[in-house]
Amino acid sequence: MDIGAQYGPLRAEIDAAIAGVLDSGRFILGPHVAGLEAEISERLGGRPCVGVANGTDALVIALNALDVGPGDEVITTPYTFYATAEAIARLGATPVFCDIDPDDFCIDPELIAERITSRTRAILPVHIFGHAANMPAIRAIGARHGLPVVEDAAQAFGGACDGASIGALGDIATISFFPTKNLPGIGDGGMVVCRDQDVAARVRRLRFHGSADKVVFQEVGYNSRLDELQAAVIRIFLRHVDDWNDGRRAAADAYATAGLGEFMRLPSERAGVRHIYHLYMARHDDRDALAKGLGARGVSSAVYYGIPMHLQPVFARLGYRPGDLPVAEACAARALALPMHPHLTTEHVEEVVTAVAEVIGQVPARG
Ligand SMILES: Cc1ncc(COP(=O)(O)O)c(C=O)c1O
Repeated sequence: MDIGAQYGPLRAEIDAAIAGVLDSGRFILGPHVAGLEAEISERLGGRPCVGVANGTDALVIALNALDVGPGDEVITTPYTFYATAEAIARLGATPVFCDIDPDDFCIDPELIAERITSRTRAILPVHIFGHAANMPAIRAIGARHGLPVVEDAAQAFGGACDGASIGALGDIATISFFPTKNLPGIGDGGMVVCRDQDVAARVRRLRFHGSADKVVFQEVGYNSRLDELQAAVIRIFLRHVDDWNDGRRAAADAYATAGLGEFMRLPSERAGVRHIYHLYMARHDDRDALAKGLGARGVSSAVYYGIPMHLQPVFARLGYRPGDLPVAEACAARALALPMHPHLTTEHVEEVVTAVAEVIGQVPARG
């Protein structure tokens, strides 16, 4: 990541936006939050959007708005950031982990149906690392069983599947504006994208203590609002996110062209998917030694996600054992995030590939 390269050229605009909010004196649910909600809605086929405090709250509130609660089950992926599973557990429901597709790291639709029980309330795929989950197949399963599909789009703003934008592929979607995300803020922020107006009204109420008018309180809600200062800055970034995603895609192409595929298994893109490479995840059997060797050569890399959710201590009570979800476990042992950001140059990519080749003890053939 290179946050400075991304924000630097926009610094004057960002400063002016912040000064504008300060001058306005409107800090909570002002015109920038409404403006950002409208702009994201326009990109997502007019679906109503509701800004909230972060992507984790977006998940909790979205599930709450679908009436997920104690005793319910939500089917999700074990190969995700903890917040996805945590949101389910936070509502007193049980995450039911389903193994993933080895090609795209996302939940494997073929395995979902066998996990559905009378207690299942929703299916929660994650568009992990910027690649869309197999939404046509997942939606079909949801429709067959009367289950809503919640998209965790925290890592995939601007991605697409079969010509439709991520965030408008399920019944409800959640976005994170965490500063390292593809559409970042300069602090915490999140959004819920709804298909139905009624659900959107409930989400809107839930973000403000369960009240539509601050006078009558209809249910126990949250104090979870997107901050006006964040919204003002995110609106600037929104105008650049497609270019930034193109830059990430170009960097991914550069890795392939530079011959990384000779040494590591490269991330792939399912037909019809626009991958936006939130993270560039390549795989190697000796991942930890490779990461160490890269670090010694000044190339940063990071492991996502070293322990899949079904083996996390917090979920020990659910009784999963090593080997239960073998694909997720294999990815957890082999996947490594290599440098990826919108302004990564071909020279930089070649340096990384050379370092990988050196650590592995071979020389890359340039393609
Ligand atoms: C897949 C996924 N879901 C949810 C979240 C939670 O978002 P936030 O950090 O904004 O709460 C994140 C990121 O942190 C994420 O990567």
